[in-house]
Amino acid sequence: MNEEQRISRRTFLDWLVAGGLLTWAVAFVAPVISYVWPAQKRGPSVQTVSAGKADEFAEWQTKIVAIGGHPVIVIRTPQGFRAFAAICTHLGCIVGWDAARHQIACPCHAGFFDINGRPVAGPPPRQLAEHGVAVVNGEVLVKSA
Ligand code: FES
Repeated sequence: MNEEQRISRRTFLDWLVAGGLLTWAVAFVAPVISYVWPAQKRGPSVQTVSAGKADEFAEWQTKIVAIGGHPVIVIRTPQGFRAFAAICTHLGCIVGWDAARHQIACPCHAGFFDINGRPVAGPPPRQLAEHGVAVVNGEVLVKSA
């Protein structure tokens, strides 16, 4: 082996440092890239759940259904069905229906929401998110978004 074919100590260390830096860069950047651009697209994000037959709901009758593990309150108003996220915007209690007031009520701190999901009394700071509702073949279908 002549002098040019032998790898010098300095060249070896240069390659070692470069390899270490490359390994570090891949280990650091790959998770960031996979977070920003997920490897695969998720399936349809809109889910539909049946709340039952429309003719089984009396006027102002309500029902809580679960969509994706989250409670949703479905209300039959004289104008049709409405549905709102049933998690209070104050501290996250499950809301219910106050039949006397015709309002959505939170039992934890006496928060109330009107039939449009807007807070009207108590501490809730924001309105409840509304879900789409459709009656198809007599069945009340509630959308996840
Ligand atoms: S959690 Fe609903 S009013 Fe406080």
